[in-house]
Amino acid sequence: MSKYREEYDSRSNKLIPERDQEYTPVIEAIGLGITFGGLPAVDDFNLTVGRTEICGLIGPNGAGKTTVFNLLTKVYTPTKGKILPDGKDTRNMNTSQVNQAGIARTFQNIRLFKNLTVLENVLIGAHNHIAYNMASAICRTPAYWSEEKKARERAMELLSIFEMQDHAQEQAGSLPYGAQRRLEIVRALATQPRLLLLDEPAAGMNPSETAELMENIHKIRDTFQIAIMLIEHDMGLVMGICEGIAVLNFGKIIAKGTPEQIRSNPVVIEAYLGKKREA
Ligand SMILES: Nc1ncnc2c1ncn2[C@@H]1O[C@H](COP(=O)(O)OP(=O)(O)OP(=O)(O)O)[C@@H](O)[C@H]1O
Ligand SMILES: [Mg+2]
Repeated sequence: MSKYREEYDSRSNKLIPERDQEYTPVIEAIGLGITFGGLPAVDDFNLTVGRTEICGLIGPNGAGKTTVFNLLTKVYTPTKGKILPDGKDTRNMNTSQVNQAGIARTFQNIRLFKNLTVLENVLIGAHNHIAYNMASAICRTPAYWSEEKKARERAMELLSIFEMQDHAQEQAGSLPYGAQRRLEIVRALATQPRLLLLDEPAAGMNPSETAELMENIHKIRDTFQIAIMLIEHDMGLVMGICEGIAVLNFGKIIAKGTPEQIRSNPVVIEAYLGKKREA
């Protein structure tokens, strides 16, 4: 593919073409695809996300949304296509290297170390970025303690975003469900991502928790100046905070645009209603 062609495609894949034009996109997915048992779960997925964009990935159950996150974070190796966080090719990277390249995520089903404390869960995220080497960690050198102290301070700061600092020493598994979902976000943030992927962050939350989550998603974007991509079935949340939305159906993007464009797009309405009719 020629350089011009690549640049052209990258522009046309943006959800909001006029945003963040002067910066390298936080992520570009080009022609991404994966098949399971010969069937494509995600096919020809093209998407470019701006540096500080809040965007949504929506679609009926089984459309392939979580699979997209698994591809972007290298939980699955793509059968086809490229993933470029900050223009870097992730072809030879594993999940941990992709995280260090700036992509962090939460999971549709909460994955916390339930027997560890809230603080310990956040520190596990932070450790992916700590500068000390293995020898200094084993020998507990001054460099180790200094990095460890910084990590703890930072973890406490991050917990305070969600007003969870007073729960730092509690067991993660003992927190109410909504708080566990918030803790997962804090742990992801501790890895200092430039792109945060949230898989159904409002699932199981009550309306007031969801409203608070929406505020917090804005706060995270504004404080850290990062991009956030979220998968969500709660249309109030999606339409309320996403600047751009991509709609997936049967593994393919069927529409991209602003919430207004998506809401009135007949192809999108059909995808959702069609699914309901089948059910
Ligand atoms: N590891 C796997 N092996 C085989 N098939 C898989 C695998 N992971 C996902 N799939 C299939 O890919 C399709 C998309 O699944 P995915 O979980 O991405 O959907 P989703 O859009 O996140 O749905 P939901 O809204 O229900 O979470 C489904 O048909 C699923 O069965
Ligand atoms: Mg899913």
